[in-house]
Amino acid sequence: MTTTLAPELNIARPAFEDAAASASATVATAPALLVEHVTKRFRPDRRKAPVLAIADVSLRLERGSIHGVLGANGSGKSTLIRLVSGLLTLDEGRVEVFGLDIERDELAVKRLINRVSVDAAFFKKLSPMENLLFAARLYGLEAEASRRAATRILGRLGIAQSRLGRPIEQMSRGMQQKVAIARALLTSPTLLLLDEPTTGLDPRSKLEVQAFIEEVNAMHDATIVLTTHDLAEAERLCDRITLLRGGRVVAEGTTPELKRLVAERYGQPETLEAVFMTFTGRSLDDDVEEDGETDD
Ligand SMILES: Nc1ncnc2c1ncn2[C@@H]1O[C@H](COP(=O)(O)OP(=O)(O)O)[C@@H](O)[C@H]1O
Ligand SMILES: [Mg+2]
Repeated sequence: MTTTLAPELNIARPAFEDAAASASATVATAPALLVEHVTKRFRPDRRKAPVLAIADVSLRLERGSIHGVLGANGSGKSTLIRLVSGLLTLDEGRVEVFGLDIERDELAVKRLINRVSVDAAFFKKLSPMENLLFAARLYGLEAEASRRAATRILGRLGIAQSRLGRPIEQMSRGMQQKVAIARALLTSPTLLLLDEPTTGLDPRSKLEVQAFIEEVNAMHDATIVLTTHDLAEAERLCDRITLLRGGRVVAEGTTPELKRLVAERYGQPETLEAVFMTFTGRSLDDDVEEDGETDD
């Protein structure tokens, strides 16, 4: 195996080992994620024209990177994440995860990725530990190993031992979100899809979750796709950024590259705000309705 899968979390999973081993030739050289000319339409109403949610999108993620997907509400961020995670089928194009085709090698790919959505679902009356153990059972992980892994993962979140048994609903939204990310780590994913993991959090919780994402990226050797409409977050966390508008990629690059581009080509200030405005045609103020609330 060429990828390091967080040894301390590498719960015995013969199926995973098989998948990785059989694919090791491809896995060795392939990018973490390759999205090629992907298109997705929704047609909720047969009498109306379909909505083009993702239009001819291509992306390439190097291993170990954090890749930001930015765009206004409705620009297609969640759809892209759901296509990559296999929750939605592609209309056109193809997606490879570590060299494995998400349609042809569906099962193997499922073991390499995990997704955390903005509204991660929990059993609110159960404790973080119970929620993790429940998830571990769904993932088909062995009971004793899952308990050890869950204890270790939760330990790193900084939840006091005395609070580990309390219902999750008594925790701050920030802590709940960290538990959601921690839960996704149970499967030792090598590609982690985080769909607006900090939207709706107060500034302090946001910083904590961001620090945790950095830690996951560094310690678990996880490649991360992160959607956000928080530009400071993108700037802090992301090695590269893709900007979506109406389901299309309108810009892609490192933060310094994108800033330089808007400054040199469009005479804009060298800020990520200017990048966002220039390429999405939206000001952030149009788009912050979920961002202003606090929870504690
Ligand atoms: N299940 C669905 N059925 C119909 N339309 C959808 C569905 N999911 C998303 N869309 C539409 O696709 C577009 C992109 O949505 P989405 O990916 O949720 O954007 P974002 O996450 O960037 O806010 C929007 O126009 C949205 O209304
Ligand atoms: Mg979304």
